[in-house]
Amino acid sequence: MIPIDLKGKLALVAGVGDDRGFAWYISKALAAAGARLVFATHPRLVNVVGNILERDLDKESRQLPFGAGELKVERVLPCDVSYDTMADVDEKTLNDKRFSKHGDYSIQGMANTIAKDFGGGVDIFVHSIAFSPEIKNKAIDTSRKAYLTALSVSSFSLTAMLKALQPFMEHRPDGASAIALSYLGGDRVVPHYGGGMSTAKAALQIDAKQLASNLGPKNIRVNIISAGPYASRAASAIGDIDEMVRHSAACSPLPRGITPEEVGNTAAFLCSPLAAAITGHVLYVDCGYNVMGVFPKVE
Ligand SMILES: NC(=O)c1ccc[n+]([C@@H]2O[C@H](COP(=O)([O-])OP(=O)(O)OC[C@H]3O[C@@H](n4cnc5c(N)ncnc54)[C@H](O)[C@@H]3O)[C@@H](O)[C@H]2O)c1
Repeated sequence: MIPIDLKGKLALVAGVGDDRGFAWYISKALAAAGARLVFATHPRLVNVVGNILERDLDKESRQLPFGAGELKVERVLPCDVSYDTMADVDEKTLNDKRFSKHGDYSIQGMANTIAKDFGGGVDIFVHSIAFSPEIKNKAIDTSRKAYLTALSVSSFSLTAMLKALQPFMEHRPDGASAIALSYLGGDRVVPHYGGGMSTAKAALQIDAKQLASNLGPKNIRVNIISAGPYASRAASAIGDIDEMVRHSAACSPLPRGITPEEVGNTAAFLCSPLAAAITGHVLYVDCGYNVMGVFPKVE
């Protein structure tokens, strides 16, 4: 039997906002393989996530796959990936109590805590973050401001976070691994995937390749999972997610929708030594939808 053994590895997972998103399922798969977990969560969601990790009501959600017990997370760190340091934070956010109660919620603040409280060693980094204030707008109707926000939060943040984490990820005993989440809308036109998000995913994918090249000599691998559509909280904001799920289930070589568990398992593989020679890769976890040129007629 070939095991995926991540015992003793520290995984920093950015983008857990509830128990529905991909980051939650990736965390559970990593934990089932033995990894220790720290979350970097948007400051406004730190309490929500803290509750899900503790409440009896959510015990079922915390059950790990493969009978591996219950999800335990060592810390939920506040991190708004719009800000490299607190000097970048605008006045309105600085005065917002939902943010200020957390102290330093910048990328650098999060990295400082990792250095101080976790001995500064990070083996796995997961980036599962995307946002556009105009996700429902077609590309032609997207404002410059929303377009740049989508790129800043959904794409540049991968570069910014890896830059901050690089000192803790370089030359780890078995190498370190970073993964980020993309979508086919970064390669091809998906109607309604606007608001700058398709551009953000295209940028994320080429950034991951650049970063794989930049960080490879330090034995840090960087890969992308391009997942099929799934009705998470963020995806539900797009509006027609159910139709997207239905269409891809009907048209994929494997004629069904994906599950978030399948994304979690792929992440565990990519972060493990079994994938030691894989970097700069975009791995589609979409039941094969991306290979189709002409789609069957959908009833
Ligand atoms: N759901 C899909 O159909 C689908 C398909 C392919 C790829 N993806 C990608 O998967 C990733 C996770 O999305 P999801 O669908 O699981 O939804 P989700 O809502 O669970 O995750 C998105 C996360 O981004 C976080 N976020 C947004 N702005 C932030 C900021 N400024 N600072 C810190 N965190 C911020 C949110 O708090 C949330 O936790 C995203 O990159 C998304 O584009 C989703």
